[in-house]
Amino acid sequence: MPVEQTRDPLRAAHLLRSGRLVAFPTETVYGLGVDATNGEAVARLFKLKRRPGNNPLIVHLADLEQLHLAARDIPPLAIQLLSALAPGPLTVVVPKSDSIVPSVTAGLSTVGVRIPDHDLARQMLRATGLPIAAPSANRSGRPSATTFKSVLEDFGDELDAILIGDPSRIGLESTVVDCLSNPARVLRPGGVTLEQLRSVNVNVVMAGVSHQPGDNSPGRLHPHYQPRAKVILVETPADIDGSTDAAYLGLNGPPHGQTFGWEMIYPSVQQYAQAFYEALREVDRRGLTTVYCQQVPAGDSNAALADRLRRAAGD
Ligand code: TXA
Ligand code: MG
Repeated sequence: MPVEQTRDPLRAAHLLRSGRLVAFPTETVYGLGVDATNGEAVARLFKLKRRPGNNPLIVHLADLEQLHLAARDIPPLAIQLLSALAPGPLTVVVPKSDSIVPSVTAGLSTVGVRIPDHDLARQMLRATGLPIAAPSANRSGRPSATTFKSVLEDFGDELDAILIGDPSRIGLESTVVDCLSNPARVLRPGGVTLEQLRSVNVNVVMAGVSHQPGDNSPGRLHPHYQPRAKVILVETPADIDGSTDAAYLGLNGPPHGQTFGWEMIYPSVQQYAQAFYEALREVDRRGLTTVYCQQVPAGDSNAALADRLRRAAGD
């Protein structure tokens, strides 16, 4: 069956309510949604995405009133964060409600909950009246998808439907915050910065880099965001020799006379971040074997892109 492509959030909601797998746009990246209370549908999603069963999914809600559909005994600090920063690119890890099937959270007693800042997505979520589990809509390990075409590139006709929207505005995933530790811990840097979290008057720290389960977002133990081309991080393009088999992505242009098979120079870190996953995919479409990526300066507002660059390079 060809994948159904629709622009109607109510149609997408109807399909989700019938247990179908429906990709949808958000402000961070596209998600691959399924009813989080339907064990069979969730099992199909893990299989389709080839996602390891120990990597929990984020549950998406339309608004704060729906929180009880996914979570219980919600710590006050999670409410504080959500009240200030949701809808937005923030996921809070809180105790899970019994209605969420155990496979969604990989057997954990906690659940990551997020309210996306995207009108179409929220109309769809509201119309389902359900908690919707959704990982990023890419095959496991591949760069995330920020356009509907990239979702179709990864899943072809194996999806039931896709709610078509514009390219994702932010381009990198949400910030995941563990709200059950004190201080709260950022498990994955993302669209909300540490400064924004702290402006809510919440005591929050970055979790250390760790390979111990539990010290990190479980998903961070798996390879991520990797194109087929080899990703090499560089400080400046002056450090590399141009090659027509290679691409270059960065903030500074290569020195005069250096040529690459494809190059993209971004005017800001924000634009680099927004375009990054799609650029990695474009490198593969062009059959280039290497992509040199300029690392961004250290700093809170660059943390998410710096992290995805390192991970794309397999560090
Ligand atoms: O922006 C986003 O968050 C996108 C869009 C679609 O909402 N979703 C997304 O999902 O990035 P995914 O599955 O690619 O990444 C979810 C991350 C993983 O690193 C996972 O380990 C972590 O969230 N996570 C989910 N539930 C968790 C939990 N209960 N405890 C700790 N980490 C959790
Ligand atoms: Mg992902």
